[in-house]
Amino acid sequence: MQIARWLHLMGVVVWVGGMFFAHLALRPAAQSLPPPVRLPLLAATLSRFFAWAGIAVLAILASGVWLAEAMGGFRGAGGAIHAMTAIGVAMAAVYGYVVSVPYRRLRDAVAEGKWEAAAPAMATIRRLVGLNLLLGVSTIAVAVLGRSPLVP
Ligand code: HEM
Repeated sequence: MQIARWLHLMGVVVWVGGMFFAHLALRPAAQSLPPPVRLPLLAATLSRFFAWAGIAVLAILASGVWLAEAMGGFRGAGGAIHAMTAIGVAMAAVYGYVVSVPYRRLRDAVAEGKWEAAAPAMATIRRLVGLNLLLGVSTIAVAVLGRSPLVP
């Protein structure tokens, strides 16, 4: 059970922490670079981050189900666990879409040097990673605040 909790938290650290860094540090800093420098840098960074994030997503979902089963199953679980599961699955779907549609477009456009096609794909990735970051931060709040009532 503690291994499941560790896996769950490691996945959250890698995924949500990586999105925080990409969205709030890397992207604004790279904004001043010209497109032929900025877009290949972002595509190469995202290719590595999305691979790790994919492992993190699988670890979070598997360890989440493991934790829920170890705590007596989903039937008797509280609202916080159900909310976490629903938002977690939605986040995984957004991740899957980002990797298979706009990221693929970005990668192909960068490989061909088509900056006009790469820029809108990058803008879509930015919006969706921003959405997933918000959902991730909210899920952490639900998980932690829902665990023990602040008011007894
Ligand atoms: C299928 C999706 C998920 C399931 C089934 C799930 C299930 C669980 C369960 C059963 C717990 C233990 C709760 C407790 O000890 O009271 C837990 C803890 C937690 N989960 Fe999730 N979770 C999922 C997705 C997520 C996601 C997407 C995030 C954040 C982005 C997240 C963040 C956390 C955090 C921060 C804890 C607290 C760990 C601790 O205090 O030890 N979970 N989750």
